[in-house]
Amino acid sequence: MSDVLLGPSILAANFHCLADEIAAVESAGVDFIHLDIMDGRYVPEITFGPLIVKSVRTLTERPLDVHLMIEQPERHLESFVGAGADMVTVHVEPCVHLHAVLTEIRMLGASPGVALNPATPLETAFEVLEFVDQVLVMSVNPGFGGQTLIPTALRRIERMREGIERVNPKCMLEVDGGIKASNIAQVVNAGANMIVAGSAIFSPDAEVAEAVRQLREAIGA
Ligand code: DX5
Ligand code: ZN
Repeated sequence: MSDVLLGPSILAANFHCLADEIAAVESAGVDFIHLDIMDGRYVPEITFGPLIVKSVRTLTERPLDVHLMIEQPERHLESFVGAGADMVTVHVEPCVHLHAVLTEIRMLGASPGVALNPATPLETAFEVLEFVDQVLVMSVNPGFGGQTLIPTALRRIERMREGIERVNPKCMLEVDGGIKASNIAQVVNAGANMIVAGSAIFSPDAEVAEAVRQLREAIGA
């Protein structure tokens, strides 16, 4: 399982000392940094925009995985890629022309991804599988960190893995939401190879390095 990538969602980090938080996850050996962009419309909360992405870009050379939970994502692609996003993932529902949005992300020079909510039919991703570098299967409803993984996500990850193997085996299968040391092995065994963890990494109960070590140990990576 050592080819599984692990990335922290900085939503759970302490923004008062973001540079220290990024340095801590970097020295703990994470593979990418996940940035949750929320607009208060597609999801209830508002987080941050390209300005913070740009600032994080100066703090790390790890790939920046930008998860857009916003309406009309097509209006902001250029700003996020310009700010330093390496991967840009959009949700199915706010994209009127999903294929066009994914193509635009690729044209701008980033890796396109499609995100599926717990009730979004997987078939939508199958339709665009050959145009994406990552499929993000949400294991919680988007909008908040610190939620509990919805168990039906596991079967969805298995089905998505089957589709990916058939159509685009190089595509990453990313899972986001409620991942802990206690369930990460199930998620990986179901077929995920790119894992996001927020509250499990930036937790008041353990140092970042220890939290990352526990997650990796649980999957033998
Ligand atoms: C949820 C976000 C997730 C979240 C993960 O809308 O997309 O990235 O921050 O946080 P945890 O791991 O705490 O569920
Ligand atoms: Zn996310």
